[in-house]
Amino acid sequence: MNKRNMIIKNASEVVTCSGFTAKKGKEMSDLGIIEKGAVVVEDGIIKAVGPQSEILQKYDEEKYDVLDADGKALLPGFVDSHTHYIWGGYRAEEFSWRLRGDDYMDIMNRGGGILSSVRQTKAASKEELYRDGMKRLDSMLSFGVTTVEGKSGYGLDFDTEIKQLEVMQDTDRDHPIEVVKTYLGAHAVPKEYKGREDEMIEEIINDVLPVVVEKKLAEFCDVFCEKNVFSIEQSRRLLSKAKEMGLKVKLHADEIVPLGGAELAAELGAVSADHLLQASDEGIDQMAKEGVVATLLPGTAFSLKEKYARGREMIDRGAAVALATDLNPGSCFSESIPLIFSLATLYMNISTEEAITAFTINGAAALDRADTIGSIDAGKKADMILLEFESYKFIPYHIGVSTVEKVIKDGKLVYDKEGSPAVYR
Ligand code: NIG
Ligand code: FE
Repeated sequence: MNKRNMIIKNASEVVTCSGFTAKKGKEMSDLGIIEKGAVVVEDGIIKAVGPQSEILQKYDEEKYDVLDADGKALLPGFVDSHTHYIWGGYRAEEFSWRLRGDDYMDIMNRGGGILSSVRQTKAASKEELYRDGMKRLDSMLSFGVTTVEGKSGYGLDFDTEIKQLEVMQDTDRDHPIEVVKTYLGAHAVPKEYKGREDEMIEEIINDVLPVVVEKKLAEFCDVFCEKNVFSIEQSRRLLSKAKEMGLKVKLHADEIVPLGGAELAAELGAVSADHLLQASDEGIDQMAKEGVVATLLPGTAFSLKEKYARGREMIDRGAAVALATDLNPGSCFSESIPLIFSLATLYMNISTEEAITAFTINGAAALDRADTIGSIDAGKKADMILLEFESYKFIPYHIGVSTVEKVIKDGKLVYDKEGSPAVYR
């Protein structure tokens, strides 16, 4: 089954999510479903998709490996477009402080939070970071993720930021999940830079960004634009320079207080703005107009006991919404795709169809890859998942449990729940 040439037949439905750009507003409800569909894959690329009767007339089954979907639903692989999956150590103690009422930002301002993960990531060897990163990717694969974004930002200093990005590169090479790398050197302010944030931004611009660009260690630059972290002006300065140097940009925006991060994302032509719990109406409208993807991370709001981002309103105002896990050791230690589906559908009033769009074609758009992944369209990478059930409607319905049976990446079967858990090894 690993020849990258296959016909998948007898799918009860092929949920194509067809499209080559982000879907906005009402378009998010259209999943482009083909009942009793089949898909032809050649050299890891989707060659054709359509009703089975037509496909099997045109393509000779004898010439392909045949995967019998046995009346189950076939979808594009999920794109988790916002994670921090490489870090050292854990913050379980901090989680229990938060349970008793301590504030997330207060913990960070006392030197814990992100800064605690920074200390532990500095202390970790590359081998340790690699081993844990691979394990986390295995877990994501079992949830049907075929492309993931990963951010640095637990180093802050030059050496550790580069170490994190290099480990991401190594895991990308060795794991079937494709990794999109983001440099997030401006993720927190270390003690020695308190009150000297402008200097820290200049050092990043002068010393780190040129190396990241030259060594092709990242495709995106991100910043934690937040009160008591980096201001709108500092974020604008950093991201404008990153753009000039050839990186694409995204932001952690309007997460804790309404600072105008959504407006800045629109002004800069960011590919996405993420979190947006406190985004203003103007910010949302400007993002919709400029085609900035609104990446929502309900697992983080859930874990921080904050109000969810206004996803329903964003879609109704014509924005393109993506959903992602935000997997990280602090604000959301979860890579669970089913959890995010449950939160989005049950608590944010996002429909199942919109949530699927948000995790496929719009997730791809949040990584500037809507032309190559995120849907089952001829010409795209053959990244697909087969569910255990006949309908996509089971995804949020089976609460908190993965409904994914098989995962195909670049035309290869890389995960099979019925066989050994990770078949790619
Ligand atoms: O996306 N908000 C900033 N950064 C991460 C949290 C990182 C952490 O707590 O370690 C986030 O939520
Ligand atoms: Fe994040």
